[in-house]
Amino acid sequence: MAEGIKKYIQPHLAGFSGYSASTSPDVLKGKVEVSITDIIKMNANENPYGCSPRVQKAFAECDHFNIYPDDGQLVLRRLLSGYTKMPVERIVAGHGSNTIIDTIVRLFVGPGDEVINNVPTFDIYRFSTQICGGTLININRDEDFAIDLAKIKKAINSKTRLIFLASPNNPTGNVTPQEDILELVKTGLPVVVDEAYYEFSGETVMPWAEKYVNLIVLRSFSKWAGLAGLRVGYGVFPADIVPYMMAIKIPHNVSVAAEIAVRESLADIKYLEGRVEAIVKERSRLYDALQQISWIKPYPSKANFIYCAVLKGSASELHQMLQKKGFLVRYFDNPLLKNSIRISVGKPEHTDALIQVLQQI
Ligand SMILES: Cc1ncc(COP(=O)(O)O)c(C=O)c1O
Repeated sequence: MAEGIKKYIQPHLAGFSGYSASTSPDVLKGKVEVSITDIIKMNANENPYGCSPRVQKAFAECDHFNIYPDDGQLVLRRLLSGYTKMPVERIVAGHGSNTIIDTIVRLFVGPGDEVINNVPTFDIYRFSTQICGGTLININRDEDFAIDLAKIKKAINSKTRLIFLASPNNPTGNVTPQEDILELVKTGLPVVVDEAYYEFSGETVMPWAEKYVNLIVLRSFSKWAGLAGLRVGYGVFPADIVPYMMAIKIPHNVSVAAEIAVRESLADIKYLEGRVEAIVKERSRLYDALQQISWIKPYPSKANFIYCAVLKGSASELHQMLQKKGFLVRYFDNPLLKNSIRISVGKPEHTDALIQVLQQI
């Protein structure tokens, strides 16, 4: 057979390792001891309560799924402005905050440019930087996963284009104190504070986005509003950056369905806030229960998941064993996240069932 087209692939992408997404129950048929519908999914920080019931009702009534969504996102941005209290002109929405991250990287980073990343952290910052040919400058967090300001400042040079910070951080769950974020902002470089889990932490620097010309704050509807499957995220940007973001984003990047879902979620905010409260309450109960297990060390979390060091045995085997029994958790075993798992907070009955299995080990 003639030689294929592989040789034309961008050289820097030839050995690229993609994002490793969480296991979906669909692929586990026949591999687990429970039926697929009984699987308890605690591996992607999704909302166990689902979305607002108003969303499904509005979908059934929608008569314009055949029409492209407004590329300028006018109605959507107005809705987000009402929720965030930030001006419409500062907001850009996307197909999940992942794609906002990707667009930001495409706007600021080219081959040879550097991006400061506070590791361990959410892998999309690496993913997008490397796809754009940028160089990732990984700055290790300390043993409690706090960022290292001195090392970050030392790493800054004329090639630095962006600083990424997730707060709360994924997968470790801790927030970065506001005074430390201010130190990052004072560098004058574009600083992206990713607050995908804000609604569970209650801590935000979003109001600063109006004051500082180099601060970008990202949020998501995936977690608190239970819309992970519909993909809606957004960012609040310095005023002069928004036109560039709007110009380079993929056209129609938020679907009609996602826009309806945002509208209905915000109209049902009390209901959704009640679910967030339930998850925050459950986070504390799960943490306390995990602390009672001698071979697990849970880390305090302000998000909707708990990171745990596995002190005895292998996290990989634990993950496999839990999976067989129908519990999906995320596991890690690398130099920065040694022998550990991350458990998304579920409903009380999910906590009870998981803890019962862990206690029997
Ligand atoms: C820190 C962080 N940022 C962004 C995202 C992406 O969220 P979205 O579903 O809006 O793309 C996640 C998802 O896990 C995350 O953990």
